[in-house]
Amino acid sequence: MIPLKRRKVSVPVKQQTGSCKYPQVCIFILERKMGASRRAFLTRLGRSKGFLIEDSYSSSVTHVVSENSSAAEVQAWLEKHTRTSSSDHLLEKHTHAPSSSSVHLLDICWFTESMEAGEPVPVQHTHTLQINPELNGDGAEILMKSYACQRRTPLKHHNAFLTEALEILAQNAEFNDNEGRSVAFRRAASVLKALPHRVKSMEDLRCLPCLGDHSQRVIKEILEDGSSREVESTRQSEQFQAMKALTGVFGVGVRTADRWIREGLRTPDDLIRTGQQLNRAQQAGVQYYSELQRAVTRAEAELIMAIVEAAVNSVLPGCQIQLMGGFRRGKEVGHDVDFLITHPEEGKEEGLMSKIISWLEEQGVLLYQKTTRNSYVERLDGPARSASNMDRFERCFSIFKLHSSASRSGSASTSESGSACDSGCRAVRVDLVVSPFSQFAFATLGWTGSKLFERELRRWAGQEKQMTLSSHTLYDSKQNLYLRAQTEEEIFAHLGLEFIPPSERNA
Ligand code: UTP
Ligand code: MN
Repeated sequence: MIPLKRRKVSVPVKQQTGSCKYPQVCIFILERKMGASRRAFLTRLGRSKGFLIEDSYSSSVTHVVSENSSAAEVQAWLEKHTRTSSSDHLLEKHTHAPSSSSVHLLDICWFTESMEAGEPVPVQHTHTLQINPELNGDGAEILMKSYACQRRTPLKHHNAFLTEALEILAQNAEFNDNEGRSVAFRRAASVLKALPHRVKSMEDLRCLPCLGDHSQRVIKEILEDGSSREVESTRQSEQFQAMKALTGVFGVGVRTADRWIREGLRTPDDLIRTGQQLNRAQQAGVQYYSELQRAVTRAEAELIMAIVEAAVNSVLPGCQIQLMGGFRRGKEVGHDVDFLITHPEEGKEEGLMSKIISWLEEQGVLLYQKTTRNSYVERLDGPARSASNMDRFERCFSIFKLHSSASRSGSASTSESGSACDSGCRAVRVDLVVSPFSQFAFATLGWTGSKLFERELRRWAGQEKQMTLSSHTLYDSKQNLYLRAQTEEEIFAHLGLEFIPPSERNA
């Protein structure tokens, strides 16, 4: 808190007209580190809910809201922009007993919680910006939030040597149908991805959430010996390798792979050799196995984007098409390419998928496709059922044929088993999803990933907010109503979360 008398006014104020329900709370949102468009969005959102939000800083401001900034940084900005003399060091007053007339330096979480509550929530310790964390030895102590959806997780991070090991154990737990254990390892890995430095000793892990005993043992061994025996023996085990090979076949899940392994099968070639009964998806999976194993590049994703755009535009002009999944998060390669399609006129999207598929089939683009119909009806399904991870949009699982002259230069495809695409062509997994416009923001959030980020968003919603989030809607159990949203930003605000851009959802 900063005593009011310390502040001097120098910036002209554009007074707001219109309805203002809480004149005693006068908010100023700092653009720094937030960006103009997000600030404008939050300002509109706040004003639409009757909050008084000033365009510039003035003596009437009672609540300064900022994002990703420390108290010192905000204070420095205010000092610079109000030309307070440097001897008036605001931060020094920060710890003094707050007077009744003082300004709050707040984190964005106060604002999002207030938006959610529909009124300014009382300022609590967790909302106020903390004076720079104390230095401990070689660096600052890190305040790591416990849900992955509260944190920023970049694509490139400093601890791949640890996260890759933990993710082997996570994958092995999945293969053993042990979801709880798998998620525990993934959460631990995700915390390390969010660290701003390389872990050098167990000391660096102090105060970090989600690191269970098992994960810590593995990390300790890698730090001391360079590798973990458990991880290495898992990686090399026949069971693990066979599960990896067989679940790597499109259309094959853990249960099926496990059954095959118990029957003595190990590789996709074994499936062909022994003449296993395969469904249509699995047949395509075996046929294009080696092609589908190869990572899809961003250049290929963009090529496919152009094809999808051509298809959609020719069957229904005016649609919006978005590249989703890992590519939206900034990944350079992926295992497939995901698209979300909508039309701004609600209802126009009905029947769109079958038209897109027909067009693609006529062009000879599809090697395989299976469409599922939109089975989501809000009124019938209700919030209870939407807790399921599977969403129910009209969706097409497909395999596209790309001409490799366009997708890569040189190397013609070999005739090894599983490379059934004629030479000079490339098979790529593509997922198409059609969403009604009213659900587009939820679908966008749900299909951006990462999978752990999505999982954590739903856990946060349920455990912390008594809400149910799906790729269709957000339901508030306390208020007994669906919360609408047109943008991802609004959904984060409804959830009382700081907005995390796609590139930092690589949890
Ligand atoms: P992907 O499995 O395609 O993962 O799911 P990804 O992040 O794009 O990574 P790679 O590179 O392809 O391996 C993309 C997003 O779509 C959601 C997932 O939760 C993920 O966030 N998704 C996927 C669903 O919501 N439902 C599904 O049935 C499948
Ligand atoms: Mn994907």
